[in-house]
Amino acid sequence: MKQEQQLALQIAIDGPAGAGKSTVAKLVAKQLNLFYVDTGAMYRAIAYKALKNGILLEDEPSVSQIAKTTEVILDHSEEQSVWCDGENVTLAIRSTEISRAVSIVAAYGEVRKRLVELQRKEAARGGVVMDGRDIGTHVLPDAKIKIFLTATPHERARRRWMELIKAGKNVLLEEVSQDMQKRDRQDTEREVSPLEPAEDAVILDTTGYSVEGMAAKIIALTLEDGR
Ligand code: DC
Repeated sequence: MKQEQQLALQIAIDGPAGAGKSTVAKLVAKQLNLFYVDTGAMYRAIAYKALKNGILLEDEPSVSQIAKTTEVILDHSEEQSVWCDGENVTLAIRSTEISRAVSIVAAYGEVRKRLVELQRKEAARGGVVMDGRDIGTHVLPDAKIKIFLTATPHERARRRWMELIKAGKNVLLEEVSQDMQKRDRQDTEREVSPLEPAEDAVILDTTGYSVEGMAAKIIALTLEDGR
């Protein structure tokens, strides 16, 4: 790929929780030497800040105000980190509490407006792989490659459960599965930028695929398209 093509390259990866978006997106970004932008982490940072300030998640004006005034930074060094008003929240935003809170916050139009602005600024830095729920449909509608990743509900819950167990959390697979179904419902049914594949997205099912296999498939699609 020529350098100027690489600088302008945008790969959008959307899909439900546990479909493998972030692991696959990170590997694609590394192999193609692009930035990786985890937009879910931004919504998580706003949910974290709202809870930390004792704001009721149902209080849309106050949560929107938090989104407008909070500095959210994604640090793109080797081990990516997430910063919220100068605090490193990389681990804190992965808690079950935040996972349960975040879909409520992500449904608010003003929150999305502010974070989409930040996401587009991130994309303006150069070639990017961005993952989320509305990247192909809304954030980067002109992305060259749009992927919608899925996996069976059981496989998605199992993956998320394994991550939590590895992180030392004592949780039941059934509990993770129910939380995930609730979150997917909230993300799919909200009015503003709901989770859905873009018309021109390639839908890929990651069930039974390795991360490397799926990344190779996306890279092949990208290079094929860039002839
Ligand atoms: O990908 P994740 O699990 O970290 O996302 C956290 C939440 O944020 C999830 O409930 C969906 C929401 N989200 C969104 O609405 N739009 C995005 N672009 C990214 C995430």
